[in-house]
Amino acid sequence: MKPSLIAVFLRNPLRIGAIAPATRFLARAFRRSVLALGAEPTTPIYELGPGTGALTRELETLPNRLVLIERESRFAELLRTRFPRLEVRCEDALESEALKTAQAGSILVSSLPILSLPDPKPFRALFFELLLSGRFRAILQYTYGPKDPLAPLPPGIRSRRVRVVLLNLPPAVIWQYERG
Ligand SMILES: C[S@@+](CC[C@H](N)C(=O)[O-])C[C@H]1O[C@@H](n2cnc3c(N)ncnc32)[C@H](O)[C@@H]1O
Repeated sequence: MKPSLIAVFLRNPLRIGAIAPATRFLARAFRRSVLALGAEPTTPIYELGPGTGALTRELETLPNRLVLIERESRFAELLRTRFPRLEVRCEDALESEALKTAQAGSILVSSLPILSLPDPKPFRALFFELLLSGRFRAILQYTYGPKDPLAPLPPGIRSRRVRVVLLNLPPAVIWQYERG
């Protein structure tokens, strides 16, 4: 019998970076955070590390183009089945063509487990480059605990804690990054 997707999470907590998929409360908080950015319907949204699509389910109710970037092929296949209308890229964030060629002013929603990555530095550098280049006008990243997951920030980037979601396992904090 094939292991369930929850089993994939449980067996690979470090690679996947979570013990359970995000709750609908966290997903709704992300949707509200995207809307609070005043995103036009023409603004593309990229979701990084969508896993089984727990956040995608809420994000796809927005009228925007939504691109999913997921490294694990098993999750990418599942996402293609669950969200046939969406563009699913099975790519590593650090080598993603989709991110390199994104339209200026896009929005990035990230579930990457920054604080549990063996070496978060290249991911921080990637996020800062995406903002400073202007391809992304904002990045929303969630984390567990009070610490800014991308700190220290370089000059020209500012961060803000925008939402705390207690009804998640573990409770989550959404951080927003912009130029400024
Ligand atoms: C914490 S899980 C989040 C899954 C989903 N958003 C949720 O809330 O249930 C992190 C996801 O990021 C993916 N991931 C980890 N490193 C990645 C990388 N370098 N590039 C793309 N995806 C990555 C993992 O495969 C996993 O699906």
